[in-house]
Amino acid sequence: MDRKAVIIGAGFAADMHIQALKALGIQVVGVAAGHRDSAKGFAEKNQIPSYGVSVEEVMEDDVTDVHICTPPNSHAELIKKMLNAGKNVICEKPLCITEKEAQDIRRFMDENLRHGKKTGRLVLDYNVRFFAAVKKIREIIKSGKYGKVVLVHGNYMQDFHALPSIYDWRYRSDMSGPMRAVTEIGSHWFDLAQFVTGSNITGVSATFKKAAEYRILNDGVMSSEDDNMEEDFGDKKIHIDSEDAASVTLQFSNGAMGNVLLSEISHGRSNHLFLEVDMMDGSVWWNEEDPNKLYHGKKNDPIAVEISAFNGGFNESVIELFKEFYFGEGDSKILPDVNSGLQIVRICNAVHDSSRQHSAWVNVKQ
Ligand SMILES: NC(=O)c1ccc[n+]([C@@H]2O[C@H](COP(=O)([O-])OP(=O)(O)OC[C@H]3O[C@@H](n4cnc5c(N)ncnc54)[C@H](O)[C@@H]3O)[C@@H](O)[C@H]2O)c1
Repeated sequence: MDRKAVIIGAGFAADMHIQALKALGIQVVGVAAGHRDSAKGFAEKNQIPSYGVSVEEVMEDDVTDVHICTPPNSHAELIKKMLNAGKNVICEKPLCITEKEAQDIRRFMDENLRHGKKTGRLVLDYNVRFFAAVKKIREIIKSGKYGKVVLVHGNYMQDFHALPSIYDWRYRSDMSGPMRAVTEIGSHWFDLAQFVTGSNITGVSATFKKAAEYRILNDGVMSSEDDNMEEDFGDKKIHIDSEDAASVTLQFSNGAMGNVLLSEISHGRSNHLFLEVDMMDGSVWWNEEDPNKLYHGKKNDPIAVEISAFNGGFNESVIELFKEFYFGEGDSKILPDVNSGLQIVRICNAVHDSSRQHSAWVNVKQ
């Protein structure tokens, strides 16, 4: 059957999805978004039809695949609606905000399966899994070449929220949940660490940092109080509820220990995701900003760099994920599914609980 895709959402992620779909030659038959005008603008730019704000019409049409590119508060409901209508779903990360929502999605899928009801397939866009170097790290660890994993550590730093920055749904807990750095970028790092090690994060201890309690909002752009001369900021002064950065210590189910620094305020870092895995007989490390280089370390040997010149960067990782979704085997083991999505939601929420309890150790439900 010919695949017909629709995108829900018309922002940053939607752009990334449509580019990847175009690259793969998959027919995109429309877009729906939270505002009629943004759907229309996106439709015109990409020369596709617009559903306006009507996701109901998407459900009724003979669409086969739906790409959910909306803020996290809308994911659970949209996923269930689209699966129920028999559509396959690729949903942006994170799966949703609360564990209850994630459990509801899983229960809904299990029940449909039990009752023989045909529903679509659900995959999450944890695209970092699809860098060639990341797949290689996973193979190296699985092969046992360097022995058992002892440490898994790194950082994920961006400057998207360094000032001046745009005010959007990420600053609204009703749309993004109570966290920002942890769910926006930490979720990718946690998924990556679990994916390459084949081991779950079972416990966390976390500390959060905000650069400042307040920012000044002018015409949709935030700046710092220090950059503004006014005495009384009035309504322009907004309280920042979520963390700009987090430091998280981790325990893995295979006995390894880890830690990660997450920051959305590190100037000059556009997408610095770094991961190192130290094993008994060797280490490997990788940085998403220089994605085609995979480093190997072994005591007394020079550091070795594996270079794969043709594998590409961020956009290609999304294309690779979509390729597996659209053209791969139905039982792909590397596509992020509802279970991995649920696990990341649990990790993020355990991180939140720990930060609220002065970095107390919090076990992650398995
Ligand atoms: N995989 C990645 O690397 C990556 C990168 C960026 C964003 N994301 C994820 O993508 C999602 C969207 O982020 P974004 O940066 O594109 O946001 P955005 O603000 O740029 O776009 C959000 C879009 O969703 C629409 N929308 C909001 N609520 C809706 C609803 N209930 N029904 C239909 N449309 C609705 C808005 O109208 C808007 O067009 C988030 O979950 C984010 O975490 C993932």
